[in-house]
Amino acid sequence: MSPFLLTRTLPEDATDAALRADVLHGLTGTPKTLPPKWFYDAHGSELFEKITELPEYYPTRAEREILLARAGEIALASGARTLVELGSGSSEKTRHLLDALPGLHTYVPVDVSESALTQAGQALAAERPGLDVHALIADFTGSLTLPDTPGPRLVAFLGGTIGNLLPAERAAFLASVRALLSPGDALLLGTDLVKDESVLVAAYDDAAGVTAAFNKNVLSVVNRELEADFDPDAFDHVALWDTEQEWIEMRLRSRAAQTVKIPALDLAVHFARGEELRTEVSAKFREDGVRAELASAGFALTHWWTDAEGRFALSLSVAGQDR
Ligand code: SAH
Ligand code: TRP
Repeated sequence: MSPFLLTRTLPEDATDAALRADVLHGLTGTPKTLPPKWFYDAHGSELFEKITELPEYYPTRAEREILLARAGEIALASGARTLVELGSGSSEKTRHLLDALPGLHTYVPVDVSESALTQAGQALAAERPGLDVHALIADFTGSLTLPDTPGPRLVAFLGGTIGNLLPAERAAFLASVRALLSPGDALLLGTDLVKDESVLVAAYDDAAGVTAAFNKNVLSVVNRELEADFDPDAFDHVALWDTEQEWIEMRLRSRAAQTVKIPALDLAVHFARGEELRTEVSAKFREDGVRAELASAGFALTHWWTDAEGRFALSLSVAGQDR
């Protein structure tokens, strides 16, 4: 059993303050929005794991296929002694990477979901003698402080989660990742690719309704944390493909005119019948765009791998000289 350490970068009351600010800002603006990180309480993380097993949700299987095929090359190219994973969730696919990195000193999973982090981190530390696991409860869109561990470092950001950031947020995020690294360190990035609309929409609106339950879970989080009285059944799950932006947009559509009370914010929020609350975007990418966004942040893309069907890409980039 190797050491398992858990560091909370977000004090519990800061999380609460951040949720309040996000809900107040998001539900009093037009259109109404809520940021996606609030999906992932313990129940939300469990629902996401179910999504990864749905027949319609191909990204997890496609990315796993690439990781299995390329883990050796990734290990060789990066020579990583520290693996930092942002939005690590269950760390399930990461196991293929860990298997290929025998010289790894420390694994640093970073997530806002304490339940997912603790479960995954403890299991990995127990299974892998010789590997330090230092989990960070932190918001990867904020400023991260990494533990002082040996380089080279490899930062992994899998699952296409980068697509859940808006373009401006993405640029800021990639620049902040670059700032965490030294020249020569590497970034392994999973990006879902632009493809047929019907395939994309089905992945975010599955027949069994798991994604609908996941989307509505954000309302339950606001109910629990801020004593709100959202009725999740009073909203429909909507997933739309935006051809211009090339992203899937997830929304919750009010089935009737209704007013929701949020006592912790001293707020009443009116929804017109049919009014939509935007909960998440999931951008889809093309190789040129990924390469250009990485270059703007100071990364040079060195490898681009897709699954056999060309649905999903994993890219490896190297951090350039400090600027
Ligand atoms: N990497 C896993 C999980 C992807 S789901 C996979 O590929 O299957 C997205 C993960 O990112 C969830 O575990 C969620 O809790 C986490 N997450 C979302 N927003 C975050 C944020 N702002 N900071 C840190 N973690 C975040
Ligand atoms: N990173 C995942 C994605 O964009 C997150 C996700 C999958 C998701 N399905 C969802 C987020 C449904 C909200 C609703 O693919």
